Amino acid sequence: MPKEYAIAVIPGDGIGPEVVREGLRVLERVASIEGFRARTTMYPFGADHYLKTQEILPDRAFSEIGEQDAILLGAIGDPRIEVGLLEFGIIAKLRFDLDLYVNLRPVKLYAEHLCPLKDKKPADVDFVVVRENTEDAYAGMRGFFKKGTPDEVATQEIIFTRKGVERVIRYAFELARRRGGRKKLTLVDKANAVRAMDLWTRVFAEVGREYPDVSRDHAYIDAATMWCVKNPEWFDTVVTSNMFGDILTDLAAMIQGGLGIAASGNIHPGRVSLFEPIHGSAPKYAGKDVANPLAAIMAVSMMLDYLGQSRAAARIEESVAELLRSKQIPSLGSDSGLSTSRIGQLVLESVEQPRVPA
Ligand SMILES: NC(=O)c1ccc[n+]([C@@H]2O[C@H](COP(=O)([O-])OP(=O)(O)OC[C@H]3O[C@@H](n4cnc5c(N)ncnc54)[C@H](O)[C@@H]3O)[C@@H](O)[C@H]2O)c1
Repeated sequence: MPKEYAIAVIPGDGIGPEVVREGLRVLERVASIEGFRARTTMYPFGADHYLKTQEILPDRAFSEIGEQDAILLGAIGDPRIEVGLLEFGIIAKLRFDLDLYVNLRPVKLYAEHLCPLKDKKPADVDFVVVRENTEDAYAGMRGFFKKGTPDEVATQEIIFTRKGVERVIRYAFELARRRGGRKKLTLVDKANAVRAMDLWTRVFAEVGREYPDVSRDHAYIDAATMWCVKNPEWFDTVVTSNMFGDILTDLAAMIQGGLGIAASGNIHPGRVSLFEPIHGSAPKYAGKDVANPLAAIMAVSMMLDYLGQSRAAARIEESVAELLRSKQIPSLGSDSGLSTSRIGQLVLESVEQPRVPA
């Protein structure tokens, strides 16, 4: 019997359904080539469903989703709905309540012409960011006092726990070791000003002693953004907090060519985990068949790697890389001259080619 994986799919809003559709076509094709099965269950959550039913993500569906092997998400967010309502109710709920404590963001330039930085080549932009995904200012401890008056006070607490910091740092050391190559882990923080980050400094040093083969490096977040543009080749594996990771990974997406290629995994090792393009719902492109589906397709590749289908994952990644290198897909925005479905079709045809795994 071929191995079967249960995948919960939440296409979501805007361009989400269009890019996820292409991701699923690729998933089905590589599954049949590599000899496994993906059993998908579609969930309608997002703006249209909310407007029809007032449901955001009901408990019953949440538990059902949590019992699958993995989750594939398109994008959530719609201008008809109050800012943040669905983003928090769906994305943040899945991240927090499934305790998906690692946000994994590979930053890889597949073809030189996609990089906005002068003289940087694919070998110069090849690192991975491990962003803590369940704490920091995102934990939701906030409040307004005297709201709407000239004396208003707004607070939002930054929360770091010993457990939360340690487990994500340990994951990053393991990853730096597994990636081979330079075996270097950079801690990005702001411990000079945000003194609560001293916890990160201490835990990084302590856990690091268990990984003598991984060299330890450090950069403050302000400097890290500069290095990301000036010398991205200095990074191998990066570990950082939720908010700094949020910002750094969008900057990093641009040096790998743009939001049209950047994918991420929201991971709790050994448990159901969620994979998604990092872009949002881009409402202006919704339904126009112009959004680039490569980020969603790369999210499928990351999901398969997580599920242990590394050959299938590499087959997708190498196909995408080859289509970009050869300029059959010339750019990553909506200006490629290719429709969403045409790009999906090119990847489908490319994954059929026999390849040496990347
Ligand atoms: N994980 C998520 O679901 C997620 C992430 C970010 C934003 N959002 C939500 O998405 C909505 C729109 O947010 P935004 O406009 O700030 O960000 P966005 O990522 O949706 O779009 C920003 C711009 O990037 C370009 N772009 C993004 N993805 C593209 C693609 N696949 N192909 C071609 N061009 C692409 C478009 O020019 C777009 O206008 C908001 O409601 C926001 O809250 C959701």
